[in-house]
Amino acid sequence: TLSRTYFSGIQPTGVPHLGNYLGALRNWVKLQREAAPHDTLYFSIVGWHALTLPQDRKVLLGAQTDMMALLLAIGLDPKRSIIFHQSQNPNHLELAWYLNCITPVGKLRRMTTWKGRLADSRNANDESEVDDSLLNTGLFTYPVLQAADILLYKATHVPVGEDQQQHIELCRDLAEIFNRQLEADNKTFRATFPLPAPVYTPSKRILSLRDPTSKMSKSSPIEQSRILLTDSPEEIKAKIRRAVTDSVQGITYDPVNRPGTSNLLTILAACENTEPEQVADLYSGKDHGHLKSDVIDAVVEMLRRPREEYERLIQARTYLTEVAQDGLWKAKLQSEQVMRTVRERLGM
Ligand code: ADP
Ligand code: NA
Repeated sequence: TLSRTYFSGIQPTGVPHLGNYLGALRNWVKLQREAAPHDTLYFSIVGWHALTLPQDRKVLLGAQTDMMALLLAIGLDPKRSIIFHQSQNPNHLELAWYLNCITPVGKLRRMTTWKGRLADSRNANDESEVDDSLLNTGLFTYPVLQAADILLYKATHVPVGEDQQQHIELCRDLAEIFNRQLEADNKTFRATFPLPAPVYTPSKRILSLRDPTSKMSKSSPIEQSRILLTDSPEEIKAKIRRAVTDSVQGITYDPVNRPGTSNLLTILAACENTEPEQVADLYSGKDHGHLKSDVIDAVVEMLRRPREEYERLIQARTYLTEVAQDGLWKAKLQSEQVMRTVRERLGM
């Protein structure tokens, strides 16, 4: 069988929440466990992406180290996976520039993330008026940087949430444009970039504990709405106890009419690697208090070891630096090879 190369990234913007863990990070550890011996896995802390929004320098610096500790704490193994800080490998930016130069502006305008930013900046009095003077160009072109992150390692598989589908399609388009243009120029060159396939996380969306009509998100101002991977058992307990449900008797899985109750079932099912419908069957005669107690136990138990490991690793600064240096060395070695071909093809 052909060997696979996995690439995925996470922004160093604060401690991940339960949604990030169940929707993305836990799947990385699973892929690491199930990958064939000849497969390669890259997991990158993508600091340059974080700069598309205002950041405090000290906070950002700390968040990058914290994220390294967290990735190791959840079970990523630096002996098996290449774990590194994107911002330490300038090849990402160089390739992003080359890709920017073949990216049609119209493609970026069609990105739903960009359209969302534009919508947010609409003049409150005149809906037709968009004020893009407050939006930086990085927000517009970061999907190209993301494509560079992936193509730089000739990744064949990209574990992502379904919200990233459009970005992966852009990445494939750019790989094709690049390959085609350069092959037309010089018949001796073979395709440079494989077209990467998205690997979607199977789990369901985790919703806000305080407003189960929206997803659990780090951008919500309400801290009680999310469980952080570093929360203590007491904090987890308090947040789940206060989770919004409904006054309907009994427990059923009904995401449309009972989003809060269904969210608790989704979380419990994810902890136990089963489906919410199956969990619901076990709770049909029980009440919300009972369900919440079991969700608390399951989440506390699932996060216990990552949290303990995190507390230990965050003290081991030298070790974290060593892991980052080793990851960077491997990432650079591979990406330099790719960049040599790219530069040669472009006449750089
Ligand atoms: P946030 O929305 O909290 O800012 P990000 O957009 O940085 O999170 O997402 C990081 C990863 O976590 C993505 O792969 C995304 O699909 C996943 N993710 C984020 N929120 C949730 C959620 N509530 N449920 C499941 N997965 C989520
Ligand atoms: Na987000």
